[in-house]
Amino acid sequence: MHLHSRFEADAAHAGGRQPANPEPILRAERLSRSVDGRPLIEDVSFAIERAEVLAVIGASGAGKTSLLRLLNRLDEPTGGTVFLNGRDYRSIAPAELRRRLGMLLQQPFLFPGTVAQNLEFGPSSRGEELSVGQLDRTLERVGLKGYADRDVRRLSGGEAQRVSLARTLVNAPDVLLLDEPTSALDEASRRDVEQLICDIIAERQLSCLFVTHDHEQAARFAERALRLESGRVVATGPISEISHAGQNPR
Ligand SMILES: Nc1ncnc2c1ncn2[C@@H]1O[C@H](COP(=O)(O)OP(=O)(O)OP(=O)(O)O)[C@@H](O)[C@H]1O
Ligand SMILES: [Mg+2]
Repeated sequence: MHLHSRFEADAAHAGGRQPANPEPILRAERLSRSVDGRPLIEDVSFAIERAEVLAVIGASGAGKTSLLRLLNRLDEPTGGTVFLNGRDYRSIAPAELRRRLGMLLQQPFLFPGTVAQNLEFGPSSRGEELSVGQLDRTLERVGLKGYADRDVRRLSGGEAQRVSLARTLVNAPDVLLLDEPTSALDEASRRDVEQLICDIIAERQLSCLFVTHDHEQAARFAERALRLESGRVVATGPISEISHAGQNPR
């Protein structure tokens, strides 16, 4: 108690700076979605702190993709809600919400056209212009220097996934939602793209929800995991414990 008020007094002294926001960057509260009376996601609650990566594991059909789709409102919850930086996401315009929650899927999601057109899409839909400098820097950062005018139909799977990542990054997201982003790639580009994602998360201090089947990959990205089964959270905790939670129920 004493420490708390002292902290506030210090913060007030420091030129009116606010004390650090105690709210997690993303918090799901009893999030649920049923389709035709069948629950796909049921009562899912969790929080991600700033710059934290939370892994989501679970068998095929457990509801991992359904959960990510709810988080950026590609689907609407039928119960519960999500708080982004303390704000109920239902009060945030969907376009703004999707800018702040970048998504990277198993299959790269690109529009027909050039690499540059794909990167320009997000900013231009907000009435902003992506400068040539920013375009070039972003492409260089994802290892695609000189790719601006390439037709996306002629990219390899690894290159297309790098363009998807670049497309998300030009929106300056706070949170990345990653749905098995490397599982469709061949072995060599899988490692490269994984390393790239890992470096960018660290560099930009991104908060992430990382869906993966691969427990070793989960451990490379996250310290904490959440296990889904039939749309429900059955365990949360350190990766080492959650990986075995299926075999050793406590
Ligand atoms: N729009 C929908 N309408 C009805 N059922 C759906 C819908 N989308 C998904 N499902 C069902 O919800 C369950 C969870 O699917 P989901 O795609 O979220 O699983 P997942 O954990 O991502 O699996 P995978 O590891 O195979 O990607 C499955 O039984 C699926 O058939
Ligand atoms: Mg899935």
